[in-house]
Amino acid sequence: MHPKYVAIKKVEFFLQFSTRAGNSDIHFEFQGQLGCRVFKARVESRKMHDSTKIIRSTLTGVAAGEPLHVSPVFAAPYHTPGDPANSPYSYARSHNPTWTALERALGQMESGQFATGHADAGKSYRAAALVFASGMAACAAIFGAVLRPGDVAVLPENAYFAARVLMQNYFVKMGIILRLAPTVGEAQGEHLEGARLLWIETPSNPTMDVCDIAALCERAHLAGALVAVDNTTATPLGQRTLALGADFSVASDTKSMTGHSDILLGHVAARDRELLQKIEEWRTLMGGVLGPMEAWLALRSIATLPLRLERSCENAQRIAEYLATRTDVVQSVLYPGLPTHPGHVIAARQMNYFGAVLSFNLVDKAAAETFLDKAKLITEATSFGGTCTCAERRARWGGDAVPEGFIRLSAGLEHIDDLIADIAQALDSVL
Ligand SMILES: Cc1ncc(COP(=O)(O)O)c(C=O)c1O
Repeated sequence: MHPKYVAIKKVEFFLQFSTRAGNSDIHFEFQGQLGCRVFKARVESRKMHDSTKIIRSTLTGVAAGEPLHVSPVFAAPYHTPGDPANSPYSYARSHNPTWTALERALGQMESGQFATGHADAGKSYRAAALVFASGMAACAAIFGAVLRPGDVAVLPENAYFAARVLMQNYFVKMGIILRLAPTVGEAQGEHLEGARLLWIETPSNPTMDVCDIAALCERAHLAGALVAVDNTTATPLGQRTLALGADFSVASDTKSMTGHSDILLGHVAARDRELLQKIEEWRTLMGGVLGPMEAWLALRSIATLPLRLERSCENAQRIAEYLATRTDVVQSVLYPGLPTHPGHVIAARQMNYFGAVLSFNLVDKAAAETFLDKAKLITEATSFGGTCTCAERRARWGGDAVPEGFIRLSAGLEHIDDLIADIAQALDSVL
């Protein structure tokens, strides 16, 4: 070839393009030399930070004159002339455009690269997500779609109480064999022989127990079991369970994910589309589905997840550290961000944030009630992950094996100095 055709200058440029699934930056680099001997081209996708990706994932694709964000679509049936397979939407129990936008954003948040130690470490994977009317609806979909009579399910003995009760009172009575074991020490790993499903919750609600997700996934897969991780307390931004080897990431997005204490939401994410299809069929047939208004509110909310999570986790860490200094009144503090927590090393390895939730023990029921009464900046309420700091004496519900003076606290977004001052005076009043 004549040199005049191959005199390639080094060219470097970014191409930014927008897809319906979000925006990406691609870096092209061409290198050449005179003559036709050497020619190099490099195409590289520039890695964006999670916070940027999450914000971009909530936007619509670029189309002149169209709004930046989706609006809720209120419809039960959709126009379906002729073969319904030709219509993207047919009936809103199966699908809805507002769900689709939210599921795309959640699927992107759950996607990533396999973690160090995984057989495919460093390789990228893409996940997809399905949204549910609540976290419990998402948990129930995994139980219902995966388990059949005679199958063995291994759950943490301190799993979120409603998940345990659902399994014990319904699925066990339909022929599922339940094995319970502690979260700590990866004790569930000893009960996997012949199991179909391993259910993990780490950090657990409300006792903040931690286990090694990657190690348990490896053992479960060797035993032929699927693994689901309830990632409610951490969110996928705080802990990428699919990157650690889990088959399902399941969560109550009622909590930090949506973070404004105003909607119920759940999701299931998976890398394997066939597994997810079974979950989707369950959702369609059970029919207790999410409304478009909730899906739209969730999309608005998740764009601020990175900011909210960073602030609330920072506040949780500072509160836990302060509580740990108050040995005059606080018997113990349970927060994986404290180096004294037995699961700290594992949590530091597998989590990006230690979470907004912590628990602590006061001497008895009266001390816990006094504390909650005197704390003016702590709203007494169940649930967690909202903008305002909340706490409750957990034993008032029953169901969890916790002492009477056990308090679960969810750090909000307030100024930390105000929170610490308020907690200090409330603890003083217990003395
Ligand atoms: C760990 C965990 N999983 C599941 C759920 C159920 O979520 P929802 O209340 O959205 O049904 C909760 C609720 O508190 C939870 O804490």
